[in-house]
Amino acid sequence: MSDAISAKPWAGRFNAPTDAFVEAFTASVEFDRRLYPYDIQGSIAHATMLARQGILTDAERDAIVAGLERVRAQIDAGAFQWSIRLEDVHMNIESALTADIGEAGKKLHTGRSRNDQVATDVRLWLRDEIDTIRAEIVRLQTALLDLAEREAETILPGFTHLQVAQPITVGHHMLAWFEMLERDRERLADCRRRLNVMPLGAAALAGTTYPIDRAYTAELLGFDRPAENSLDAVSDRDFAIEFTADAAILMMHLSRFSEELILWSSAQFGFIELSDSFCTGSSIMPQKKNPDVPELVRGKSGRIFGHLMGLLTLMKSQPLAYNKDNQEDKEPLFDTVDNLKGSVKVYADMMAHVTCKRERMRAAAKQGFSTATDLADYLVRRGIPFRDAHEIVGKAVALGVREGRDLADLTLDELRQFSALIADDVFSVLTLEGSVAARDHFGGTAPAQVRAAIARGRQRLADHA
Ligand code: ARG
Repeated sequence: MSDAISAKPWAGRFNAPTDAFVEAFTASVEFDRRLYPYDIQGSIAHATMLARQGILTDAERDAIVAGLERVRAQIDAGAFQWSIRLEDVHMNIESALTADIGEAGKKLHTGRSRNDQVATDVRLWLRDEIDTIRAEIVRLQTALLDLAEREAETILPGFTHLQVAQPITVGHHMLAWFEMLERDRERLADCRRRLNVMPLGAAALAGTTYPIDRAYTAELLGFDRPAENSLDAVSDRDFAIEFTADAAILMMHLSRFSEELILWSSAQFGFIELSDSFCTGSSIMPQKKNPDVPELVRGKSGRIFGHLMGLLTLMKSQPLAYNKDNQEDKEPLFDTVDNLKGSVKVYADMMAHVTCKRERMRAAAKQGFSTATDLADYLVRRGIPFRDAHEIVGKAVALGVREGRDLADLTLDELRQFSALIADDVFSVLTLEGSVAARDHFGGTAPAQVRAAIARGRQRLADHA
């Protein structure tokens, strides 16, 4: 047998070496090597359990653990020789271990398969990434609460159909994004809870003939429990799909947020100024300051939606149990994590440095008859049914449109031609401050409600960190 054949841990039954192109085509080490800390962590736990069960001697376990630590140090230092001949991260590490410690290294894979090994590695890795992403979401939420606090009384137009609708406070507006992110954070916690179940012990698909203790290995690795069913444990990637679905929803939220920041920072809106540190210029137009960060995040939502479709399609129709198809889960999953993590991080940094142009917001809120509903509510309080009040105010708005004047700029006599019930106290409801202050109930835009919601928000972050 040639060296090329014998070097492969599975080459016993093979008579010809792997075709060179097939070797490269089927290898995953170029991308799955990033799992190495988790692969080593899983192997150490597995060897520890095997020794405790008397399947390995304590001396073998000690040699394996020490050898794996040396491999880890070598990889950390960038000194490890990865080989595509050894296909994936698992066989690269196992081969290096055996080269280092000899016979004991060959015993590490007792009662284990790469099938339960890879499913375990990916879960361990994703669990850590979810913790990091959730912490980044908290940073972003905190930046939004801080901004909401600074701008609790700042008035801007609220929009429906991108047309001025009713005045709202910037604080209230930012708290809307806070709520969406809070659900995103909860979804990820929920995903983490479901994925924190250990495949190890399922071996290739049917379990193993050795007297293993799966509960002990699970405990060593911080899993809540071992997976109930060995076939399910090695084959399903629903946890990866679920995570990517959560990521897609989060990116959908960030894409909406981005769209708004892009519009708001344009000369036409002029509502906000993004910090120079988060914008870039144009190589030809000297005056340009472009909102590249929100644009890029908006763009990245597309690839993550794509990864969700990719993973669903990867899993669709796969027969039980493990199939090599599943090797294809890694690149989309890695790319989703990298881009999601980067997007939330850059948003957390950027939102801490947003300046509101209060005068521009205020001027915009004064256009578009944003207090028309307040006038209708005023008439209702004087006994007019809401539908009739709506009609009366509609006529007043028509006059304002004809004359290019806001409702607050019409005289009392002009307003009274539409209803004799209008008195000079009407002007307090037609002001922007009066309009927002009047929406003074749980979930409303009044500054007092915004301040209370900010305090609750801070508490929620502290309670569910
Ligand atoms: N590289 C493989 C993967 O990512 C590891 C499991 C391979 N198992 C096998 N029987 N070929 O899925």
